Amino acid sequence: MRTVWFMTGNVGKVREAKHALEPLGFEVKQLVVEGVEISEPQCDDLEVVARSKLEQSQAHLPHPDDALMVEDAGLFVDALDGFPGVYSAYVLKTLGCNGMLKLMEGNNNRNAEFQAVAALLLDGDVFISRGVCQGVLAAKASGEAGFGFDPIFVPNDIENEDITHTTNGLTFADVDLSVKENFSHRRKALDGLLELLSTPEAASSS
Ligand code: IMP
Repeated sequence: MRTVWFMTGNVGKVREAKHALEPLGFEVKQLVVEGVEISEPQCDDLEVVARSKLEQSQAHLPHPDDALMVEDAGLFVDALDGFPGVYSAYVLKTLGCNGMLKLMEGNNNRNAEFQAVAALLLDGDVFISRGVCQGVLAAKASGEAGFGFDPIFVPNDIENEDITHTTNGLTFADVDLSVKENFSHRRKALDGLLELLSTPEAASSS
């Protein structure tokens, strides 16, 4: 099994990455960088943030030959021109889910999407993959599962040829992780990474 160090302080993200990658032969371990501030560049592009975090955390890999992954995500609300986007962590900490709903009071356009960018450093190459999950902001927060903005996000139904994925109007925090995975921006970004790994020529070099 190949070890992938996932640099994040968010155990919810680690749980989701393990769920996605371990059946495919990657052992996911959380890398917490202590005593050093990993800075986030001020920009509105998740990929720039993810690449910067990858570069900064590389020196903290326990074994230089292991793979290193970072992932940056955010909630982008249409009626707020994509806010909070790259500022999602700060907004969650300061306003919280209910504060976000307050910002949206009286707004009929509740369309929003989660975006995630996963960046993997493997054997000297950097692989980047994006995932998007479209949905709407709920009228009120609901559910105990998941993390972050999950209690206020209801994913749009996804209709494939023979199967429809729906939460029946429930939020991500109302459903199990295995249900969230059918829609999840993170899952799509991780699946994209795995696809890139199977076609190495698609890698963009660091
Ligand atoms: P970051 O990628 O850790 O910077 O995440 C930015 C913010 O978006 C954090 O506050 C997360 O809690 C939130 N967030 C990221 N992904 C998700 C998700 O899958 N569900 C709910 N909130 C999320």
